[in-house]
Amino acid sequence: MNTKKFIIANWKAYITAQKQAKDMLATVVKAKLSKGAEVVVCPPFPFLSLFPKTKSSIFSLGAQDVFWESEGAYTGAVTLAMLRDFGVSHVIIGHSERRHFAMESDEVVNRKVRAALQAGLRVILCVGEKEREDSRAIPEIVGAQVKSALADVPAPHMKNLFIAYEPIWAIGTGVADTPNDALSASLYIRKVVGDLYGNKIGMALKVLYGGSVDAKNAALFMNQSGINGVLVGKASTDKKEFLGILDSF
Ligand code: PGA
Repeated sequence: MNTKKFIIANWKAYITAQKQAKDMLATVVKAKLSKGAEVVVCPPFPFLSLFPKTKSSIFSLGAQDVFWESEGAYTGAVTLAMLRDFGVSHVIIGHSERRHFAMESDEVVNRKVRAALQAGLRVILCVGEKEREDSRAIPEIVGAQVKSALADVPAPHMKNLFIAYEPIWAIGTGVADTPNDALSASLYIRKVVGDLYGNKIGMALKVLYGGSVDAKNAALFMNQSGINGVLVGKASTDKKEFLGILDSF
């Protein structure tokens, strides 16, 4: 299993001014990281160009979404080639907020996943159930989301895939999942991927936890050997919290 730990900072639309974005980026790239960690910062599109151009194996640039067609008459679309031109190496796809407010269907998520992997980007695919109480939720809902997102994804592309388990009830609520339940969900996701692609790919898959991760609880998730890191929303836009997360393992 992959022992490297990943911290994905999803700024969402919390940071809204260039000055604020520059300031936060400067803080992040100056931070000291423990060996074996990688940070991926995912700012809103207009701020992608503010990321320092120097190549680093510790800090990478991610986008929060992408369009699946390569070019053409698609008003408002941001394509994979545009992202690559800005030095973007990672892209979040299928975040529950996009599934909800942009009405992205499983089919749209699958198109984006296929196109981004085909273009050589690393994809952070988000899945997660709505209600905490629903015990059938993980196998039924999360399993179905994983399967439909991966339809027609060839096995050699799987090395560039992360799956973030993000229960919707935990996102932005201040109530994170328990590390044990997050671990069970991540093992279930590995099993689904293992059933589709074989055990080796299931075990090598990078699975993240997201939903109210902060400086106090990040280590609890990151220290689970079956979890490869965390996807952090709100707390990634607060200097003290984010430096605390980077410091916590
Ligand atoms: P949160 O968001 O950390 O603000 O809960 C996580 C996410 O949606 O990626």
